[in-house]
Amino acid sequence: MNEQILILDFGSQYTQVIARRIRECNVYSTIVRHDIPAAEIDALAPSGLILSGGPASVYAEDAPLPDPGIFKLGLPILGVCYGVQLFAQFLGGKVEPGLKREYGKGTLRVTSPACQLFQKLPGAFQVWNSHGDRLTRLPRGFVAVAKTENSEYAAIEDAQRRFCGLQFHPEVAHTPRGKGIIRNFVHRICGCGRTWTMRRYADEAIDAIRAQVGSERVILGLSGGVDSSVAAALLHRAIGDQLTCIFVNNGLLRAREAEVVREVFGRNFRMKLDYVDASAQFLTRLKGVVDPERKRKIIGRTFIEVFQGATRRAGQARFLAQGTLYPDVIESVPIGGNPAATIKSHHNVGGLPRKMKFQLVEPLKCLFKDEVRRLGKELGLPEEIVLRQPFPGPGLAVRILGEVTRQRLELLRKADSIVIEEMKRTGWYHRIWQSFAVLLPVRSVGVMGDERTYDFTIAIRAVESQDGMTADWVRLPHPLLERLAGRIINEVKGVNRCVFDITSKPPGTIEWE
Ligand code: XMP
Repeated sequence: MNEQILILDFGSQYTQVIARRIRECNVYSTIVRHDIPAAEIDALAPSGLILSGGPASVYAEDAPLPDPGIFKLGLPILGVCYGVQLFAQFLGGKVEPGLKREYGKGTLRVTSPACQLFQKLPGAFQVWNSHGDRLTRLPRGFVAVAKTENSEYAAIEDAQRRFCGLQFHPEVAHTPRGKGIIRNFVHRICGCGRTWTMRRYADEAIDAIRAQVGSERVILGLSGGVDSSVAAALLHRAIGDQLTCIFVNNGLLRAREAEVVREVFGRNFRMKLDYVDASAQFLTRLKGVVDPERKRKIIGRTFIEVFQGATRRAGQARFLAQGTLYPDVIESVPIGGNPAATIKSHHNVGGLPRKMKFQLVEPLKCLFKDEVRRLGKELGLPEEIVLRQPFPGPGLAVRILGEVTRQRLELLRKADSIVIEEMKRTGWYHRIWQSFAVLLPVRSVGVMGDERTYDFTIAIRAVESQDGMTADWVRLPHPLLERLAGRIINEVKGVNRCVFDITSKPPGTIEWE
């Protein structure tokens, strides 16, 4: 994979989105620290650089700054937002605090139609702004190529050095033509071809896996989720029977989950699959446990034990494969209160067996989730697997408040199946991040027919999110909510009330625990 664009991360919440947009143009891109030395960039030989946005002001004392040498590498550079201020700072322009923060939609008018950035785009279109400081004098060698109501310098360019800057964010959905700008930058200005495809990635990853593991054996913990499933399919294609997948049934799975995994991986793909039914062990240990953190600890510890037992049975394996994704490995520096990097460590259940003495194989670690799904399709995995919503490692235990029992699990499985079925039937399932049922084992009074009931409540949760860090509840249509509640109350014995969770994250979390 030789052609690539490097994105220097100055702390914008959108940095990963830029990387994804570039990859959608079939050009590989990686995110690097903002202060990466110019010599290191030179050694990587990228086709171009992007300076991301960021929350700081270039004049702030602790402003994150790049190595000034990056402007002398002869590479095309696109500065986005804060990136534009950096041009001004290093190449002789002027930035001043704006009187008010320019935030929200604006209309961009292209004043220099010959500019490569705007080829095949309309003369005016909507853009998304989010910046405080503004450029008041152009850096040397630059000219303005587009303006908005509030800014003469909404887009600037030094065509000779192939430097361009955008005050607005081309990567977000609120700039609907933004992808066209990014496409023009990578193909026209940086001269990249369309070399990044999942088919090509699969071929190269397979070669890399073979080179790494040789004739050794590899073990993989298969959860049935997208990441471990795609990793399994890729490894299986690379090394066949040298791979053993271990699937632990912890008794906390959704309906039919274990069957689907056995059917797809065992029967269809004919992988060596060690199916370990440890549900009794998990449920016994969870007996009487109410505290959410204790539940998690018990589940985590039991999983390690069971998994270790299975790895011993699988014989001498030198490697452990994991479906680690790119967002887990980006080396980010928290800048200006962007705490994203620190929140999620507790979710990485995949990291559990680290103390075992394996070498890691992580064939997905430069991919984003949507790329993993495309790769999965390329490798022949069914949609039921590759288009799955995320499901937490501790399973339904985090969706049953209070004690986890067999009866409660049964009840939640039924309600959850109804939610999945209806969400799929109406097309909502694939449009959103997650949708599921939560069991609140608190009794309330109801009437059904002529009878008084005294039963549990199901909460329905549906959230929209990019990465699980923040989330908003989904405004599901009332007829769908009505059908969900109607079916759950009618079909799930033991439930007489349904509520819909309208909490966003923060302040709520996605799971109730
Ligand atoms: P919360 O509840 O923290 O969840 O807002 C954020 C996202 O992470 C998922 N989640 C987990 N995933 N192991 C996982 O693999 C876990 O222990 C775990 N806990 C929460 C959750 O479903 C949501 O998508």
